[in-house]
Amino acid sequence: MYQLIINTKAYSQASGEEYKKLLKACKSLNSKAKKQNVELILAPQLPELKETISSNITTFSQHIDPIAPGSNTGFVAPETMKSLGCQGTLLNHSEHTLSKKLLEGSINKAKQEGLLTCVCAKTPSKIKEIVSLSPDMVAFEPPELIGGDVSVTTRPKSVTQALDNTNGISLLIGAGVKTKEDVAKAVELGAQGILVASGVVKAENPKKVIEDLIEGFVTKSK
Ligand code: G3P
Repeated sequence: MYQLIINTKAYSQASGEEYKKLLKACKSLNSKAKKQNVELILAPQLPELKETISSNITTFSQHIDPIAPGSNTGFVAPETMKSLGCQGTLLNHSEHTLSKKLLEGSINKAKQEGLLTCVCAKTPSKIKEIVSLSPDMVAFEPPELIGGDVSVTTRPKSVTQALDNTNGISLLIGAGVKTKEDVAKAVELGAQGILVASGVVKAENPKKVIEDLIEGFVTKSK
């Protein structure tokens, strides 16, 4: 199954009433996505986790810390995320990077709690180091393309290099992905999914964009 992860980051459009609309859109497209072999995953802001989980959308935390519940002010306990109903977590996003030691601890803790891990890498060579920690998925995202209009798929060589370094672990790609053509290209290059934020969250009609992205998984790239 392909993965379509929508990371809402801390965008203002991804909280309160506006987030409800985005969630409604995901809910209405969830079964269509499944029929097309695409798992729709939302990684919302912390206050929106509960509602997302109760909408039956696969939900990832945007981050976890390798800590236990207890006296850890401001940290995110994996055990709490699991008991809320999260299925997984993003880790090491280029906006929230971790040292190798912390990343290793976080992946291990996530495993202990039964949370899937999608670990981000800024470069294809970083992927080598990350896969040695055995995450469930790696996501290649060139930071300079994040939030912009140029898709990571315009760098096929880098994507191929990233793929070569995965050692069989599922590769997702992200940054600047906005259209079904971008998704079709990602699939053609060998990606198992995409990670998207601004293209959906800041869109005038997020539902239309999500629908388009889902279609990209079955559209042949030109
Ligand atoms: O985590 C996804 C993200 O970093 C990609 O951002 O806005 O380029 O889709 P964006």
